[in-house]
Amino acid sequence: MNAPIADRTKAADAASIEGKNVVKTFGGFTAVDDISFAIGKGEFVSLIGPSGCGKSTLMLIAAGLQPLSTGAILVNGARLDRPLTDIGIVFQDHLLLDFRTALDNVLLQAEIRGLPMEPARARAMELFEKLGIAHAADRYPKQLSGGMRQRVSIARALIHDPSMLMMDEPFGALDAITRTQIRHDLELLWMETGKTVLFITHSLEEAIGLSDRVLVMSPSPGRIVDEIKVELPRPRPAHLGDYPSFNIYADRIHALFRQFGVIKY
Ligand SMILES: Nc1ncnc2c1ncn2[C@@H]1O[C@H](COP(=O)(O)OP(=O)(O)O)[C@@H](O)[C@H]1O
Ligand SMILES: [Mg+2]
Repeated sequence: MNAPIADRTKAADAASIEGKNVVKTFGGFTAVDDISFAIGKGEFVSLIGPSGCGKSTLMLIAAGLQPLSTGAILVNGARLDRPLTDIGIVFQDHLLLDFRTALDNVLLQAEIRGLPMEPARARAMELFEKLGIAHAADRYPKQLSGGMRQRVSIARALIHDPSMLMMDEPFGALDAITRTQIRHDLELLWMETGKTVLFITHSLEEAIGLSDRVLVMSPSPGRIVDEIKVELPRPRPAHLGDYPSFNIYADRIHALFRQFGVIKY
């Protein structure tokens, strides 16, 4: 079955990414233990797992930013041997420069990439509109709320229209209400753009609320222990508990974490 995305024509430009038996050791310590996965073009996949299980390490490897010990990453079927450039990345910490306005922070990415500035500016403003922060384009990061800063980070990650987006606990530092709204806005943006997304989280609501598929990781050394295909209509509601199947998915993940002793009750 196809991933339930809104704009299949755009997804054709998105990338596919595959991990084959990825192992990462730091000295004698195994952080990622033989992980294989495949994310199709335009698919939204979350990686959920307890702190320290190797999620960030796996994402950095998938982005070509960290070497793997053994195994391979394939992007559009080709083995990755350098950092991916056709990608946008969002981290938990917004990493915005405080001496640049929101707009200029986004445009920095365009400058570094040598993109023509006028179309980049227009595109940045279009992204700001979609993310509900157009009114704050000329504000400095210190003048923005945490949620707005993360919205700027998302715009920065998309300014060059990459074929893939990787997000490492992007909403981890936000309050619950802000998280619910930004989750919804990200879902709408994704439905419109059809990007391939690898999303890292330890929130069940985010994983189930956003994904086509959820990959569940074991505690360290990280392995993928379950894969859940989320069959809920989009866009998904703020209160996911309205769907009986949300509770079934959530129970399944809780049961795994209980089995691994991550949840003890
Ligand atoms: N550069 C590194 N050197 C040594 N150990 C590391 C390094 N990066 C991560 N680790 C270790 O690998 C494990 C997984 O880390 P990480 O991928 O950050 O986990 P997660 O993102 O799931 O919380 C942790 O035990 C962490 O301490
Ligand atoms: Mg991490």
